[in-house]
Parts: sequence; C-alpha cells; structure tokens
Amino acid sequence: MRTVNTVKELRAMVRSWRQQGKTIALVPTMGNLHEGHLSLVRKAAEAADIVITSIFVNPMQFGASEDLDSYPRTLMEDQSMLAGAGNTLLFTPSAADIYPAGLAHQTKVMVSDISEGHCGASRPGHFDGVSTVVTMLLNMVQPDFALFGEKDLQQLTIIRKLVRDLMLPVEIIGVAIVRDRDGLAKSSRNGYLSIEDRALAPALYKILQTIEKDLQSGDTHFARLSEHAKTELLNAGLRPDYVNIVNSQTLKPATADDRELAILAAVFLGATRLIDNISLVR
Ligand code: PAJ
Repeated sequence: MRTVNTVKELRAMVRSWRQQGKTIALVPTMGNLHEGHLSLVRKAAEAADIVITSIFVNPMQFGASEDLDSYPRTLMEDQSMLAGAGNTLLFTPSAADIYPAGLAHQTKVMVSDISEGHCGASRPGHFDGVSTVVTMLLNMVQPDFALFGEKDLQQLTIIRKLVRDLMLPVEIIGVAIVRDRDGLAKSSRNGYLSIEDRALAPALYKILQTIEKDLQSGDTHFARLSEHAKTELLNAGLRPDYVNIVNSQTLKPATADDRELAILAAVFLGATRLIDNISLVR
C-alpha cells in the first residue's frame, strides 16, 4: 500500500488507474482508525478495483472550543490496519495542501436546512466544513463510489443530498454501524473516555433500543418517547444533548404516518460528545 501526501501525486496515480480502466472507491476519514472505518474499506474493496482512503483532520469542521488539537493522530497504526483491509492508496494531505489560502478559503458548500438540526444545532458550521471538504475530496479523486458510515447518519444524509443537488458523478454507499460487544458504537472519540465513563457509555444504545421497541409496537407519542429517553439517559449518568425521532429519509420530525424512522441521539460524558442512532421500518 502506498501513501502520498500531495494532491499532485494523488491525481497522477488516479490518472494512471483511470487509463487502465480501473474503478475507484474513496473512503474519507480523519484517521485513528478502528473496525468501523475498516468495514468501509472492506466494502469499498468489494465495490471497486482501487480503494483510496484519505486521512485528514479537517480544521473547517471543528468549532473553536472543540477537539481539533487533541484529536488522536495515529498514522503508523492506521497504515498497517489499512494495508490489512485491502486499501490501495492512503492520501494524507496537510492542511496547507487542502486550504492553501488558510482561513481565507472563500468557497464553502452548504447544504441548507438538513445541516441545521440535530448535531448541526449544537455544532454550528460543522456540516458546512464536512460538506466542503468532502466535495473537495470527491473532486480530487473523482471516484466511482464513496463510502460513509451510518454511524453519522446526518452526515451521510447531507452528503447524499449534496451529491444529488450538485450532480456529482459518484455513487454514495452507506455502511452499517460497527459496535463494541457491549453495544457502544465504535468511535475515535471513545478513546477520550475514562474507565468509569466507558462503563456508562453503552446505556446510550440500550436506551435507543427501548425507544425502537416502543416505536415497533406502534407508539407514536414521539415527543414523550424522546423526553422519557432523556430522563433515562440522565439516570444512567449521561448528559443528553438531543434525542430526536425523525423520518429516516428527510431527518425531519417523524409523523404518525411515517414508516421509515430513525432515532438520533447525542450525549455528553464528561467533556466527550458521543452520537448514535437506530434506523427502523415499522
Ligand atoms: P471519521 O469520524 O474519521 O469517520 C470516517 C467514516 O467512518 C465516516 O463515514 C463515519 O461515519 C465512519 N464510521 C465511524 N465510526 C463508524 C462505526 N462505528 N461504524 C460504521 N462507520 C463508522 O466522519 C468523518 O471522519 C469526517 O466528518 C469526514 C467524512 C472524513 C470529513 O472530514
């Protein structure tokens, strides 16, 4: 597996694969890889001849008080995990490469409306940073497929929307959430948790599962279900940011007629923010 860190080298390699008629899949990440990321890479290897994974901790998607500086950077471990999962090329650009104009970078991609609720409400501007960097990566690689995890369901939905709205010639593939044995969704941020908080964290998924059961049995008192879940989260030692029951296609508040639902949630455990979701059809 090769690693390149400039856009120029990346484009040269992509050009030669294109000349050979190879198909290409892109897996954008911020590194500190775990089984969740690797499941994207493995799916990508099934879909295309060439798999390009990018590792870039994108400053534009972090708020001023967020963890940009402390975000875990583990390049050596990431490289060996990627090599074992069938990755072809690792692209690790510097911030100067992606944003040569620094903060003067003037063009942003904003997917209005859908970027504003849920995580967007607590992280203003976050999804503009995600949409911008993902559009740039798609333009740099021009892949046939790009893979994103359902773990970040709002992010996946926003990217599907921007690809459709901007007519980008790429197929977006969503990949199921990978969890630890106790149900906690794998996340690079789980590493921030103290031993005590790590023991509390699985309550998030358990509480989402109880809402799922209630929804499956026909309960449509969505506001009451989410209020109840917030109380349960507090009782379990987790500080809820939001628990929202939505139409899983639009991410708008669910109505009694909706069949395809998603329960989206974010909590704080100490200073760490964790997200999770469950999609269901009833
Ligand atoms: P990052 O958090 O590194 O995640 C990279 C990809 O891995 C995302 O598509 C995410 O949904 C997926 N992923 C993470 N944990 C997962 C899990 N437990 N199961 C399944 N998939 C999982 O998301 C980002 O980076 C960035 O916002 C990015 C898209 C790279 C733009 O900067």
